[in-house]
Amino acid sequence: MELSILSIIYIIGSLAFIAGLKMLSDPAHARRGNQVAAAGMGLAIFGAIFLYETEGEKLHNHLWIFAGLAIGGIAGALAAKKVKMTAMPEMVSLFNGMGGACAALISIVEFDHLIKHPFAVSFNASSVLAEGSVAPELISMGHVLIILLGMAIGAMSFSGSMVAWAKLNGRLKDYSFKGQHVFNLFILLLIIVGISGLVANIAGGFRVDARLDPLSIRVVTASWIPWLFYGILFLSLAYGIQFVLPIGGADMPVVISLLNSFTGVAAACGGFLYDNKAMLTGGILVGAAGTLLTILMCRAMNRSLINVLVGSFGGQQAGEGSAQEQGSFKEISVSDAAAVLNYSSRVMIVPGYGLAVAQAQHVCHELEKLLADKGVDVQYAIHPVAGRMPGHMNVLLAEADVGYDKLMEMEQANELFPSTDAVLVLGANDVVNPAAKSDPSSPLYGMPILDVELAKMVIVNKRSMKPGYAGVENALFFQPKTSMLFGDAKSVLQQLVTEIKTL
Ligand code: TAP
Repeated sequence: MELSILSIIYIIGSLAFIAGLKMLSDPAHARRGNQVAAAGMGLAIFGAIFLYETEGEKLHNHLWIFAGLAIGGIAGALAAKKVKMTAMPEMVSLFNGMGGACAALISIVEFDHLIKHPFAVSFNASSVLAEGSVAPELISMGHVLIILLGMAIGAMSFSGSMVAWAKLNGRLKDYSFKGQHVFNLFILLLIIVGISGLVANIAGGFRVDARLDPLSIRVVTASWIPWLFYGILFLSLAYGIQFVLPIGGADMPVVISLLNSFTGVAAACGGFLYDNKAMLTGGILVGAAGTLLTILMCRAMNRSLINVLVGSFGGQQAGEGSAQEQGSFKEISVSDAAAVLNYSSRVMIVPGYGLAVAQAQHVCHELEKLLADKGVDVQYAIHPVAGRMPGHMNVLLAEADVGYDKLMEMEQANELFPSTDAVLVLGANDVVNPAAKSDPSSPLYGMPILDVELAKMVIVNKRSMKPGYAGVENALFFQPKTSMLFGDAKSVLQQLVTEIKTL
């Protein structure tokens, strides 16, 4: 009876998670979607705490469970409240690492349980085994494999996410040595061989000394088995570190998304072990969503995943690529830029990473409202990989209460540029670089971009002529239609607002 109630709870939790995820695809319902998914998961967690039974017993260590929930819940809520928009990838990485660690810990506990009490796991007490017989069916291969995969993938995700977190906040630098990729493949091979060896030995080879009374059955476990298990754990932690260390700092969002999918798979393994449908569905969805996001990010940057993982793109320091400038550029003063914007019929704002760095979203919204009050049609052109994480610009502008109807996706915006009087590029660079269309030698070649040069005039705000994330020069800045408006985005926008108010 209770099991069926628990199953229903798990299914409700899973459905809420799926519905919540679907709602995240539109900014208008994203917040509600998050709440729906969290409520579903909360229900599944409390269902498991109060109704889950193992070996005929319910969970009784409630003090430990609720103490853990309280510590994790409070720490998570405070971190999420305090985090700055630009530090979001760091926090995602940290939380993802915790998920990986949980999945690995589940597998460690279950492995211990498995080798000490294999009968509780899968022995059918009514079958009687002959003394000294080998019982290959005693523990299924699948069960052992799931435990080992959950441990290895969870551990890789944990250590990899911790390295990503430390690199993002500047505690660690990119590090690689000659032959590192071969070394990494070697560790991975050792892990695969170790897992195969354990699966074959545990699943098929527990030698049992069986009596008629199943309770007295004694299991003889080879002493090397736990050593090998912890050896694989160590290698998996080392692999996670070695895998992330050499990757260019700015490629971290792609790597974090990939590690996120690892954590999803590791959590799904836990769902299998406990027959917990909510954990299983959640894990599979996170695994699939992380994989899709990784692929989409790579596609939007026109790079293959292999290129992200073994290439050094994005590891360059800003400024390195600024050597080969492409002629002269012209500057515009704040008052002239204010006049251009004020007397335009349609203005398109192109936000980029620099807007997030400057935390200028609020004053940007103020400028938008001011222009709208003066009868200018103002919209935002959102490139899918503008900024440093998926949806970065949407989240940034939502924080300043910019209306969703003002946000144009890249394809829509590209249709509107020919009828736009002025484009105001705010801290964006690569996403408006025409080399992506015209220069096959550019690392950006093939990446779809915002065709801002189709508008009548382009005003670019940034602090210098330094390149963006890809480390390459931008021909847009040297085109006759373009005027550079140098300065920190926040201070320039404040000056523009003041100036336009006087017009
Ligand atoms: P970027 O190409 O990185 O350019 C940002 C520009 O902002 C820089 O050129 C910088 O120039 C300027 N800037 C920095 N701080 C500023 C400030 N305080 N005020 C004004 N300007 C400032 O940014 P983007 O155009 O948004 O392109 C994003 C890049 O990141 C793409 O190459 C994309 O592939 C990559 N990427 C994105 C993601 C996701 S998922 N979004 C993930 C990984 C990589 P100055 O230094 O001269 O000011």
